[in-house]
Amino acid sequence: MNNDRSSSLLPVPLGLLKIDEEVNSANGVRPVWFSLVLPTYQESKNVPTVVERLTELLDRKIPGEYELIVVDDDSPDRTWEVAQSLMPDYPQLRTMRRIKERGLSTAVIRGWQAAEGKILGVIDADLQHPPEVLLQMLDGMEKGADLVVASRHVEGGGVSDWSFIRRFLSRGAQTIGLVILPGVVGRVSDPMSGYFMVRRSAIAFQKMNPLGYKILIEVLGRGKIREVVEVGYVFQERQEGESKVTWKQYLEYLGHLVRLRLDLWQIGRFVRFGVVGFSGVFVDMAVLYLLSDPSTLAWGLTRSKIIAAEVAIANNFLWNDAWTFADISRGQKGWRQRGKRFLKFNIVCLVGLTLNVLLLNLLFNLFGVNRYLANLIAIAAVTVWNFWLNLKLSWRVTEIKK
Ligand code: GDD
Ligand code: MN
Repeated sequence: MNNDRSSSLLPVPLGLLKIDEEVNSANGVRPVWFSLVLPTYQESKNVPTVVERLTELLDRKIPGEYELIVVDDDSPDRTWEVAQSLMPDYPQLRTMRRIKERGLSTAVIRGWQAAEGKILGVIDADLQHPPEVLLQMLDGMEKGADLVVASRHVEGGGVSDWSFIRRFLSRGAQTIGLVILPGVVGRVSDPMSGYFMVRRSAIAFQKMNPLGYKILIEVLGRGKIREVVEVGYVFQERQEGESKVTWKQYLEYLGHLVRLRLDLWQIGRFVRFGVVGFSGVFVDMAVLYLLSDPSTLAWGLTRSKIIAAEVAIANNFLWNDAWTFADISRGQKGWRQRGKRFLKFNIVCLVGLTLNVLLLNLLFNLFGVNRYLANLIAIAAVTVWNFWLNLKLSWRVTEIKK
């Protein structure tokens, strides 16, 4: 096989599915502006045509400032080999062959990780997405959009020859998405689109965790997307090869929606916070015993309780810092920063304690709620309060300045 740079394969990025803010130009090539990923599986018959058409189009619009990245999942029809054989004739073409990892969404992200552009795009390799639409999409990006989506459901958009069932399934999937993630799915008319481009800076630093086919949902859900532009397109019929969509993709789509919903609500983090809070109760009890019990030090109750509460707060802080919010504190090291977080945590907890007492009194005295039930409600409410406040104040993700 030819080993010169012009036809060697791109190394597959490993590790987290996270895109760097800094443009990857490790191989010394001048960074390009626009990187377009073509995910492929069994597309050997389509790749030569789609590469030719895209090259013709982009050579006219932004010569030398773009790259095409085919990301193939080791297709049995050797799509990657076909793409590789085209590289000497198409200097902007690059090819990645993934052997271990599988799946459309992760293929797109791996392609973007290897990309050099400030604008990251994706297009199907089977020519169902008409290449000409790219021109309008690029205009949208040039005018400052963070995300441009090619949509079947705006003016100029549509599907060519879809059966009633297929239209129904597509709209049904969109509706379910709207119910589970209204603030994400509702931002575009065609959230199922696999034809879009996004500003690198809008998705850099966010750890992606997609499942299945719908990478746009992931970008909308985790990215910092302000301005969105939509461009109409007609979904073409496939000429060669076949679609890889089966019932499995519908299940993965549902799983993906649920996962994103829980992540955005930070459910996992909240459970950890609750567990840590629970551990604090035991620390508090133990210290109270050691200090105030007649059989031990027999200090005054108030003094003992204040110390016990503070030790419990310190205990909770350490666990929260090392576990509940580990992803955030890892990026904010140093004793000063840590001390600041501890101080804020202390204040939030003290305000929480005051609220706890007030709420307990309110429920018990004013609404006549049973005192233990009232206490439970107060504790639950204050836990949520403490969690949100600490998330917003103590372990705030500070914007990284450029
Ligand atoms: N690397 C990689 N790995 N590529 C894949 C995989 C995979 O596991 N599965 C599919 N692809 C590639 C295909 O080769 C094709 O280039 C593209 O992803 C889309 O796959 P199709 O199987 O042709 O999808 P479709 O035509 O049914 O669905 C398309 O239509 C949707 C609109 O409803 C997809 O493009 C969606 O992204 C699009 O939104
Ligand atoms: Mn297709």
